[in-house]
Amino acid sequence: MNKNRLIRTLVIIVIGVLIGGLTTLYQIKSENGASTSYVAKNFGGSFNLIDHTGKEVTDKDFSGQYRLIYFGFTYCPAICPTELQKMSMVLKNLGPTGKVITPIFISVDPERDTVDVMKNYVSLFHPDLIGLTGTQEQVDKAKKGYKIYSAKVQDETMQEYTVDHSSFIYFMGPDDTLYRIFKVDDTAKDIEQYIQNHFGK
Ligand code: NI
Repeated sequence: MNKNRLIRTLVIIVIGVLIGGLTTLYQIKSENGASTSYVAKNFGGSFNLIDHTGKEVTDKDFSGQYRLIYFGFTYCPAICPTELQKMSMVLKNLGPTGKVITPIFISVDPERDTVDVMKNYVSLFHPDLIGLTGTQEQVDKAKKGYKIYSAKVQDETMQEYTVDHSSFIYFMGPDDTLYRIFKVDDTAKDIEQYIQNHFGK
């Protein structure tokens, strides 16, 4: 393990611990006594980004909607396509319930993920999938709000750089409550069941 690799590993461990802290569940009691657990209220903060059709959008465009949000990059060889495919499968399997959830993919690699690249990429997964990119500064702000870690990685053995990044599927409600963070280990079935339960089905 060389020094850079060691530092990178340590950074990933520290981020993992921070996110671990974030996943502590809270309970909301509703009037009828049913309880719904959640991770955080008012999650995500504000952002200004550009969608895959070239339109400027902000967080306000998505408030009032249920959302599944994933941060990644289109050049990702394996994890991002797998997770986006999982998200698409969940929405498909949920049927009518899936129709009320907006799937969003936010790039952590705006340098290569231009509007055109995003447009082609999201079409591979789900017709409703919204791809968001922007300037590095805009993306950094969104990453910060959603507590996403990412870092460019390049060494002499690589022709193109890659990006280390957190891999979480966030399930958020219309009032910006973050209900659940799904990780790589959660299957499409796990996510589907959680959402069905959430909607009391
Ligand atoms: Ni990835």
